[in-house]
Amino acid sequence: MKGVVLAGGLGSRLFPLTKITNKHLLPVYNEPMVYYPIRKLVEAGIKDILLVTGGQNAGDFLRLLGNGEAFGLRQFNYAYQVGEGGIADALRLAEPFADGSPLCVILGDNIIEGSIAHIAEEFRQRGRGAHIVLKEVADPQRFGVPVFANGRIVRVEEKPKIPASKYAVIGIYFYDNTVFDRITRLVPSGRGELEITDLNNSYLEEGQLTHSILDGWWTDAGTFESLRLASNLVAESVEKREEDE
Ligand code: DAU
Repeated sequence: MKGVVLAGGLGSRLFPLTKITNKHLLPVYNEPMVYYPIRKLVEAGIKDILLVTGGQNAGDFLRLLGNGEAFGLRQFNYAYQVGEGGIADALRLAEPFADGSPLCVILGDNIIEGSIAHIAEEFRQRGRGAHIVLKEVADPQRFGVPVFANGRIVRVEEKPKIPASKYAVIGIYFYDNTVFDRITRLVPSGRGELEITDLNNSYLEEGQLTHSILDGWWTDAGTFESLRLASNLVAESVEKREEDE
């Protein structure tokens, strides 16, 4: 399995912090935001990693990450997204890199406490379809939200005004190699983006989408509130680890 970190977009909800730099280069406690999703992939045994970014500051990622030395890697891969056409538009750029392999895709502003190694292993063995990860949250209307019927997900709704469940679809996704054909069939949403939620629904419509519930804390870091929360959660984890040592 290969890994893709999506770190494009404007980060407009963090303006003016993102006026002169990319959101994923901002600090989350003691490290740049993008370190956290990369580390999750590496910890899950995924060493072939592509970072997709865009905008004015793409070169800064190369200076920061180089060949992935900080993560014990010998090589790191990069792709450039022209414009901000959405999460699925950014993922489209991973097609030559994936070269038929299944993918673990992680959004560059998603930070989790625990490991994804067991989820990755299960998907590796299954090898087809797609898998999403859910977390119960207080504000599901900010996220992709699963709609359940008889215990099964029947639909995922992107930022519904009235959420049908208390769960958010977090920004860690597993896809088989049909993902790129599916992206070509997507149409831009009302906000002009190719939505990851529409991609997930395309698997769901064919009975090819499974899900699990995440253990441990999760947050995105794309708003002032969630960026502060992310820093606090990471700081607490670091302090706890130091106390335990
Ligand atoms: O955090 C999880 C949520 O992420 C999901 O629950 C939603 O279903 C999903 O749509 C997404 O929601 P956001 O509105 O928070 O996504 P945002 O526009 O902040 O983009 C998230 C990341 O995706 C961002 O940190 C970088 C990447 N991205 C985004 C866009 C729009 C790109 O690489 N290129 C893009 O054009």
